[in-house]
Amino acid sequence: MKKIGVLTSGGDAPGMNAAIRAVVRTGIAKGWTVYGVKNGYAGLISGNIIPLGARDVGGIMQRGGTMLGSARSEEFKTIEGQRKAIRQLNSHGIEALVVIGGNGSQTGSFKLTQLGFPVVGVASTIDNDLYGSDITIGVDTALNVALEAVDRLKVTASSHQRAFLLEVMGRDCGYLALMTALAGGAEAVILPEVDIDPDDVADRISEAYNKGKAHAIVIVAEGAKYNAERLSAYFKEHEERLGFALRVAILGHIQRGGTPSAYDRILASRLGAGAVEMIDKGNTGVLVGWVNSKLDATPLEVVVSNKKQIDRDLVQLAEILD
Ligand code: ADP
Ligand code: F6P
Repeated sequence: MKKIGVLTSGGDAPGMNAAIRAVVRTGIAKGWTVYGVKNGYAGLISGNIIPLGARDVGGIMQRGGTMLGSARSEEFKTIEGQRKAIRQLNSHGIEALVVIGGNGSQTGSFKLTQLGFPVVGVASTIDNDLYGSDITIGVDTALNVALEAVDRLKVTASSHQRAFLLEVMGRDCGYLALMTALAGGAEAVILPEVDIDPDDVADRISEAYNKGKAHAIVIVAEGAKYNAERLSAYFKEHEERLGFALRVAILGHIQRGGTPSAYDRILASRLGAGAVEMIDKGNTGVLVGWVNSKLDATPLEVVVSNKKQIDRDLVQLAEILD
């Protein structure tokens, strides 16, 4: 009988609970013992490890966040921290670990595999910045939260012929901003991957009014050079010359909360179960992700040494359709 562990790490993402549930129940179905590690790598280092039964993961799938808790651990970035973590795993007799998380967390997974401990990653972050998965757990829910905000802003913006700037999360990746702009019919989108001058943004807003629109919505990624703070400062400084004011809304962590969508629950269930299958086959040191509409495993070394690219065709499409 095998003993495996599961943890969630980095920014929480709606659907993480469904992934935990899938890991636990797939493991139990194989006759294995599954341990949950609380609070990510921090809990791993301190040995905050509990056995999880099938009933312990009941009623969690419909809840956002993670029942195991998540954390960011500076200590784990050190070799001493990683060695402490492996000692804890060994002392519990845990033979393999499933790490549910994003870019940083999977870098941590890779470090553990380099030290000889078998790990399988599960692609989970609202940022969708993880190489080795076309879409990651939490993206769909976060995108729908952002979209609802755009729809609401449009209503009040139209009543007052106003221009709004909505900043969405994504760290240094523009995926969420681009998709929010595309699905929300925004007048402009500002991404970390595509440089844009604030005066060009002003032109896009003026164009929208010239086209007869009653509002202008600009979506900005938090990681863009001109994020909400810098862009609004620029617009304030040049308000007189530009001829309009820009009101700002920052969505922030609201995007990470909420009930996981059906898509995220299903994706998480498949990837969580897939991770356990990988361990069973002895195929560790990989990230389980969703590639070309099916489950796939990419070596962690490849995952951490590649940067996911934004789809330039979609950037163009968003411009054409505004
Ligand atoms: P995410 O996984 O959502 O991208 P972070 O980037 O904050 O979130 O990473 C989560 C955790 O993963 C960090 O707090 C740290 O413990 C671990 N981690 C990140 N980068 C590294 C690294 N280079 N080496 C080892 N562990 C890392
Ligand atoms: O990685 C997920 C994410 O929500 C990013 O979009 C954002 O930049 C970051 O986490 C925020 O981190 P924290 O929750 O530590 O403020």
